[in-house]
Amino acid sequence: MGTLKLILFSLISLLSTLMMVHGEDPYLFFTWNVTYGTLSPLGVPQQVMLINGGFPGPAINCSSNNNIVVNVFNNLDEPLLFTWNGIQQRKNSWQEGLLGTNCPIPPGTNYTYHFQVKDQIGSYFYYPSTILHRAAGGFGGIRVNSRLLIPVPFLDPEDDYHVLVGDWYIKSHSALRTLLDSGRTLAKPDGVLINGKAGKGNGKDEPQFTMQPGKTYRYRFCNVGLKNSINVRIQGHIMKLVELEGSHTVQNEYESLDVHLGQCYSVLVTADQEPKDYYIVASTRFTKTVLTSTATIHYTNGNGPASPELPEAPVGWAWSLNQFRSFRWNLTASAARPNPQGSYHYGKINITRTIKLANSAGMVDGKLRYAINGVSYVESVTPVKLAEYFGAADKVFKYNIIGDEPPAEASDKMTLAPIVLNATFRNFVEIIFENPEKSVQSWHLAGYSFFPVGIEPGTWSPEKRKNYNLLDAVSRNTIQVYPKSWAAIMTTLDNAGMWNLRSMSLERQYLGQQLYISVLSPAHSLRDEYNIPDNAPLCGIVKDLPVPTPYSV
Ligand SMILES: *[C@@H]1O[C@H](CO)[C@@H](O)[C@H](O)[C@H]1NC(C)=O
Ligand SMILES: *[C@@H]1O[C@H](CO)[C@@H](O)[C@H](O)[C@H]1NC(C)=O
Ligand SMILES: *[C@@H]1O[C@H](CO)[C@@H](O)[C@H](O)[C@H]1NC(C)=O
Ligand SMILES: *[C@@H]1O[C@H](CO)[C@@H](O)[C@H](O)[C@H]1NC(C)=O
Ligand SMILES: *[C@@H]1O[C@H](CO)[C@@H](O)[C@H](O)[C@H]1NC(C)=O
Ligand SMILES: *[C@@H]1O[C@H](CO)[C@@H](O)[C@H](O)[C@H]1NC(C)=O
Repeated sequence: MGTLKLILFSLISLLSTLMMVHGEDPYLFFTWNVTYGTLSPLGVPQQVMLINGGFPGPAINCSSNNNIVVNVFNNLDEPLLFTWNGIQQRKNSWQEGLLGTNCPIPPGTNYTYHFQVKDQIGSYFYYPSTILHRAAGGFGGIRVNSRLLIPVPFLDPEDDYHVLVGDWYIKSHSALRTLLDSGRTLAKPDGVLINGKAGKGNGKDEPQFTMQPGKTYRYRFCNVGLKNSINVRIQGHIMKLVELEGSHTVQNEYESLDVHLGQCYSVLVTADQEPKDYYIVASTRFTKTVLTSTATIHYTNGNGPASPELPEAPVGWAWSLNQFRSFRWNLTASAARPNPQGSYHYGKINITRTIKLANSAGMVDGKLRYAINGVSYVESVTPVKLAEYFGAADKVFKYNIIGDEPPAEASDKMTLAPIVLNATFRNFVEIIFENPEKSVQSWHLAGYSFFPVGIEPGTWSPEKRKNYNLLDAVSRNTIQVYPKSWAAIMTTLDNAGMWNLRSMSLERQYLGQQLYISVLSPAHSLRDEYNIPDNAPLCGIVKDLPVPTPYSV
């Protein structure tokens, strides 16, 4: 018996090795027609971005290691790019879809993204990254299912729902852009949308979700909004947290969850209540005026409207910080790969570099800008990745224009420039986000997931490392920083490419609160980074430069 098992096991290992070498992972093809349309999500007609006529866009439902091919037809009147928030694009920052990695797709043309959701599993989303396009919609869910061979630590739910929540403005993205370009802020949003709709909790909305009594469902909440953290809750139901931006968590139960900008949480909900309708409630957090929307869940055997009494949102950010501290990685659950980022035991790895980044707001020539360590990012016509690849970096940006420490003198004086930090391939780095401002920040790192080892009020100092969670912090891609607080993350820079670190607040990102980290493999090998795709449009100063000799091995 034991021998038979061993033989079987060896056969399976051999087979999977052969498949990795010879068999290609499955392909999923998408064709997207991106247009403007007119919809009234808040009751007032406005311009929105549609993908194949839909708002929000279609979900990408795939499995670990699938090849995703998205042919995007830009039928807007402006250049366009999509980014795949949380998809790590291993060796492949060419597909990142940001103005620092790609030339935008000109209006009236198409471009085909091709990437693999390598070794990932979980809940993510995509959105248009160009100018202020996210304010017009164009976002959708990305769900990476586990491959058959890898079990997830819970039973298959009856159904699986992406719930994209976010604040929303009635003004068009171009009107909002005019505001920012003229030096002002976006001001207050007009409402909150749940999958593109704003229910009023008055029993009049069509149900968006259906549950059979006794069955368990997975809801994947992502905050695709522009400015505010959102609290989500479900009337009368407990949410069991199972996954968070690609990591399986210890399955704690919550009455409500704070979803900060750019974050995704997936929960299991069992239809174990009296058969009638219930509301999902989404409301803004840390705002003077609380904006709220509902979406209706219908029990298939239900007879009766949802109660008009909506559960209250928590108040203050101390609650939110405590909730953050309750999230734990399930160390025994299997993952899409056994050793994410090569740093399962991240607490035992020596830190090779500490980068401290402080956000700030200030005026430059009478206009509002946001900065990191005193420099406010400006987009260059030539994407920084292309400039570097074509050997023309010195014509576009200066490496390390900011240091690893914020300027000693706190001042709101700012420089405007592209920011590209040089980093060493495979270094294990600690990044400290310092937030001296009064608003909550949300930071997203592309290309990696990281361990958020601590968030605390006050200022960071090396002694704070004693309080880090060096055991079971949940590996993820987006982290909030509370007012006058800091957050510390750790990651191994083992993914070669040009990676964006950005504020997920759209006005902050647009007005300068972002940077790139250049991680180059000294080996110049295809094992570490792919070549620029043949179909990549070229622009700026690299348009007429000879394409560098591609890596061959
Ligand atoms: C895209 O949608 C627009 C508007 O519906 C339509 O006019 C156009 O033919 C579509 N293009 C393609 C390639 O389907
Ligand atoms: C998503 O993909 C999974 C796995 O292939 C499949 O079981 C499920 O039915 C799909 N869901 C939708 C909504 O297409
Ligand atoms: C544009 O779409 C056509 C198919 O309609 C495809 O053959 C071509 O490769 C696409 N172009 C790019 C740059 O992806
Ligand atoms: C962690 O995952 C394992 C393996 O699937 C499961 O048996 C266990 O219940 C999970 N632990 C917690 C605390 O959620
Ligand atoms: C980490 O640093 C300590 C102290 O400098 C050293 O003793 C230890 O060997 C290092 N560990 C590794 C894994 O490099
Ligand atoms: C940054 O990296 C590039 C490419 O490896 C190198 O040419 C340059 O000297 C580095 N600059 C700094 C300031 O380290």
